[in-house]
Amino acid sequence: MSKVIIVTGASRGIGYEVCQQLANRSHQVVAVARSAGPLKRLRQQYPAFISDIPADLTDQDAVDQLVRTVSSTFEGVDILINNAGTLINKPFEDLSLKDWRAQIEGNLISAVNITKQLLPHFNTNAHIINISSMGGFQGSAKFPGLSAYSVSKGALSILTECLSRELGGQGISVNALCLGAVQTEMLEQAFPGIKAPVSPEEMGEYIADFSLNGSAFYNGKILPVALEDPE
Ligand SMILES: NC(=O)c1ccc[n+]([C@@H]2O[C@H](COP(=O)([O-])OP(=O)(O)OC[C@H]3O[C@@H](n4cnc5c(N)ncnc54)[C@H](OP(=O)(O)O)[C@@H]3O)[C@@H](O)[C@H]2O)c1
Repeated sequence: MSKVIIVTGASRGIGYEVCQQLANRSHQVVAVARSAGPLKRLRQQYPAFISDIPADLTDQDAVDQLVRTVSSTFEGVDILINNAGTLINKPFEDLSLKDWRAQIEGNLISAVNITKQLLPHFNTNAHIINISSMGGFQGSAKFPGLSAYSVSKGALSILTECLSRELGGQGISVNALCLGAVQTEMLEQAFPGIKAPVSPEEMGEYIADFSLNGSAFYNGKILPVALEDPE
């Protein structure tokens, strides 16, 4: 059965591939990011399956408008993939409070906001997937320059556990996937020049599968999805 699926961070990298994977399986995908051009190209590739809503997820008004559009267009939301994210790569001593706030805002508060605004619109057995990082996974290898990013992702992981408890009564499952290295622009920012063992296409396929099937097996779980840490 066709599901209604919101994918944030859909303009490039992993999110772009997730949208294509889900559209190829005839689901109704709402693609969200700030850059309108790539989202429009996605819609033009899959006009029957992809809607594009350009929005900055850190902007309260933009998220309100996004939720109004979704709720007036579709009969409820089945899956939300909180994949949008940003990364600041700076040593701790050079990170300003503005940098810290930007990381928490971009990687945590933006997911909190869209999730909260969508609560009245989730269908029964909905699944929320928070795309976290191995950097935010307890006990994983940590890397210089990524403290603000890793902390923001660790918080997103813990939010996942909290929401699974609070939203379980509404029939909503919540899981976090802590990704290892995937060859995207963000990886290049974090680890310039490294070659990741996984492509965005491969990770996009995995996340699409997990979003559709994972809630039958997992709820409130913080799952590492990594072959190895970058060196
Ligand atoms: N690549 C990796 O190795 C890796 C590893 C661990 C975790 N992850 C996580 O996986 C997710 C996807 O990463 P990626 O590698 O595909 O990164 P990417 O290529 O940099 O893409 C990030 C996406 O997020 C969107 N975005 C950022 N801020 C936004 C905002 N305020 N509002 C709306 N959209 C926003 C960007 O679109 P616009 O700029 O158009 O808004 C873009 O589509 C991220 O959460 C990242 O932290 C990636």
